Amino acid sequence: MNPKNRIDFLVDELKKHNSLYYQETAPQISDREYDLLLAELKQLEAENPQYLRADSPTQAVGSDLSVESKTIDHIEPMYSLDNLFSVDDVIKFWKNLGCPNLSMEPKFDGFSINLFYQGCSLRYATTRGNGKQGENVTANLGMVEAIPKKIDYVGEVEVRGEVYMPKSEFNRLISSGHGFANPRNAAVGSIKLKDKSQAQNRNLQASFYSVGYFDKLQINSQNEIFGFLKEQNFKVSELTQFAQNEQDIRGYCEKLDKVRAELDFEIDGIVFKVDDFTLQKKLGFTSKYPRWAMAYKFPAEEKVSTLLDIEYNVGRTGAITPVAILEPVQISGSTVSRATLHNFVFLRSLDLHIGDKVRLIKSGEIIPKIISGEERSKESSPLDLPQNCPVCNTELQYGDYIAFCSNNSCPARSLRKLEHFASKGALDIVGLGPKQIEALAENGFLEKIEDIYSLDYGKILLLERQAEQSVNNLKNSVEASKSKSFAKVLYGLGIEGVGAQTAELLADRFRNIGDLQTAEVEDLQSVDGIGPILAENIVSYFANPDNQKTISELQKAGLQFSVSERAVKEGKLSGKTFLITGKFSAYSRQELKDLLTANGGKYLSTVSAKLDYLIVGEAPGSKLTKAEKLGTVTIVQEEELSRLLGFHKLI
Ligand code: IVH
Repeated sequence: MNPKNRIDFLVDELKKHNSLYYQETAPQISDREYDLLLAELKQLEAENPQYLRADSPTQAVGSDLSVESKTIDHIEPMYSLDNLFSVDDVIKFWKNLGCPNLSMEPKFDGFSINLFYQGCSLRYATTRGNGKQGENVTANLGMVEAIPKKIDYVGEVEVRGEVYMPKSEFNRLISSGHGFANPRNAAVGSIKLKDKSQAQNRNLQASFYSVGYFDKLQINSQNEIFGFLKEQNFKVSELTQFAQNEQDIRGYCEKLDKVRAELDFEIDGIVFKVDDFTLQKKLGFTSKYPRWAMAYKFPAEEKVSTLLDIEYNVGRTGAITPVAILEPVQISGSTVSRATLHNFVFLRSLDLHIGDKVRLIKSGEIIPKIISGEERSKESSPLDLPQNCPVCNTELQYGDYIAFCSNNSCPARSLRKLEHFASKGALDIVGLGPKQIEALAENGFLEKIEDIYSLDYGKILLLERQAEQSVNNLKNSVEASKSKSFAKVLYGLGIEGVGAQTAELLADRFRNIGDLQTAEVEDLQSVDGIGPILAENIVSYFANPDNQKTISELQKAGLQFSVSERAVKEGKLSGKTFLITGKFSAYSRQELKDLLTANGGKYLSTVSAKLDYLIVGEAPGSKLTKAEKLGTVTIVQEEELSRLLGFHKLI
């Protein structure tokens, strides 16, 4: 029997026995026989991932049998799109091609997926990955309702589209304490959740816009792709239109920019595609992009509002950040009533008065920023820069750029320290976000980092608005934080100037807190990227009795204060040093760093004679020029990484 038929047979057979066992409690085969069939199926699926069925019992919810995440080759590569930033450039692009008919589609801000169907069933779902092969996300995507598991088409087809999280769902998650920066990150996070049933609860949506490989289909245009997709019950965007002339293109850009704030999903631009496939084929591809399509990116939205007040926030290190309080305005889909003013130099350069009209922009679609003062009314009043800490009243120290509160036990600083400690990049204590920290602090449960480990959960439950489930989650996640690495703990302590990367380097070099605490300035400076000022900072942090107490309390609570020897990384890259520059298609920079260090590589912070390899992505920075000048560094392109790692394929 060929593998496909055998897989189909085993899936159906196992499903039947599952149902006999669970639903009818009348099993017809022994557990052992069941296990043997299942093992055979797992083996066949691993060898023939193209025949993996989304409804296979190996992929089931709650099952601990899910196959490990593997890569699968795309049959047709998945390209990305080149960007244009003005409507005039879109018109130029179109004229250069000879003014063909274009499809115009919203550019969804989610992540692209590839769904492979064969014989009417979804066989697997993959991410775009590096364009040639993607990560197998069948198990999690199989839980998403918007992904059709069965279609009418009987041949083979790769269907492509975007999975995204609606804004409303994103807001729901944020208000229940999840710390995602934007819906896109939240969507990616949901698809990588270990607990697949959670993915189902996240209300992910999808919109489809292209096909990769197809066998028997007759498709000659982008318009026909949409026809096919609709016929097969794939959701396609109702906002798609076709352009025949310049006015159509300009009108569409205007219309989408206008409506996008009201949509329940984020779009960051418009995709223009040549409609006719014959012309598409003639134009072909560059190494990265199709020559027959372009993405037009919307300009960041600007709005004018009134400056009502300036609030002065006290940060973890005591630095004061001025924050503008504004008359609420809608920008890029959310209501903005606060905007950062960064520091006092920036604040002075804007020459603001309370009551001024100010122009603001949402940069990177996340943090609103004031770009200029617009108009001054007669009633507006000049700023009164604070002389004392707004929270503890200590007299502020003014430098050239910053003002700061020098009171080490300023309650605001303590709150920020707690927030930092519990944040995602540090100990990642879910359920201990800024709101919860504030509530617990107000009620006397939390003041210092170490208090997190002696919380009285019974009493917390008695507080208003504390649900049993969330208090339980908090407890679990506090427990889980005890196994977070030494580097994360070090980062979480919030030593001024010690970011996540420096914390890794420190943990790597000193191995345990004892050796780090007794390290001298010179020892510290021998670590890559640590200069004299940072070294002094670290020494004085450990010399402070309050900090020593925090550390000893955390040690008592069972947190990791040494590099667990199991985690000493030996691998293919042991003894080699790395740096990366630019953007990567298959990885975030953090993922890539993790991959390198997980294989024993050492990550440096600057280009120096010590550097062996520089991994170069798209749009590399000055590191590349430096490395080339040195002449001793091996330059590795993203595509060559798999060879370096000795991988058959990139994961
Ligand atoms: S077509 C060869 N259409 O944008 C054409 N992409 O910057 C490949 N995207 O990787 C893509 N909406 O994740 C296409 N209507 C749309 C899209 C779209 C969003 C994403 C997709 C792609 C990225 C390229």
